[in-house]
Amino acid sequence: MNKIEISPSVLGADLMHLSDEVRRVENLGISWLHLDHMDGHFVPNISFGPDFVRAMRKETGLFLDVHLMLSHPLAYLDAYVQAGADLITVHMEADDDPETTLRAIAARGIKAGISIKPGTCPEKIEPLLPLCDLVLVMTVEPGFGGQSLREDCLAKIPVLQEMIKKTGRDILIEVDGGVKADNAAKVIAAGADVLVMGTGLFQAKDPKAVVDQVMGAAECVR
Ligand code: DX5
Ligand code: ZN
Repeated sequence: MNKIEISPSVLGADLMHLSDEVRRVENLGISWLHLDHMDGHFVPNISFGPDFVRAMRKETGLFLDVHLMLSHPLAYLDAYVQAGADLITVHMEADDDPETTLRAIAARGIKAGISIKPGTCPEKIEPLLPLCDLVLVMTVEPGFGGQSLREDCLAKIPVLQEMIKKTGRDILIEVDGGVKADNAAKVIAAGADVLVMGTGLFQAKDPKAVVDQVMGAAECVR
């Protein structure tokens, strides 16, 4: 069984004090950092680009989990890889052919992930699993932090687990959108390995208590 990871989404952080926010994550004993990239086309919001990843890479050794909400991810892969991404996740629903994109990510020597929006069924990505290191299940419509988790999306996880088992590969399942201390146990029980937490961690009064609650839930449930 994989250990549970928290991947804090920087979208929920205090953008005026990013180095402090990165230190805060490191001091909590977390090893991942989730960086959301939005192009104003695939999703109705605009966020960061490759230079942001480069700046983060200089600042930290955290595992940089890059979530591309872009219509044409293929065109930007080199920029993100050169900037220092450790994992690039692209959307099944993006315009570029996902198989070509996933192969291109792997060819650049980093980890590759595929993401599905709430309306996309897991069967769509089954043929792509042999090319993936991670599957990202969106539990909100992508584009904004601070939304509520859609519990119906968690039902996709056991279906994915069965498909993953058949591949014989070690593929992580990540859940993104509305994950908070009070629903983390449900998300972990559903089978998630990586929990993205934006506002649920960065805007919590006591982030250490959030981490303890998530890790406590992981111990009980798994
Ligand atoms: C939404 C992003 C998420 C977002 C999560 O499109 O992919 O990573 O930042 O934020 P919270 O945890 O606040 O829902
Ligand atoms: Zn994300």
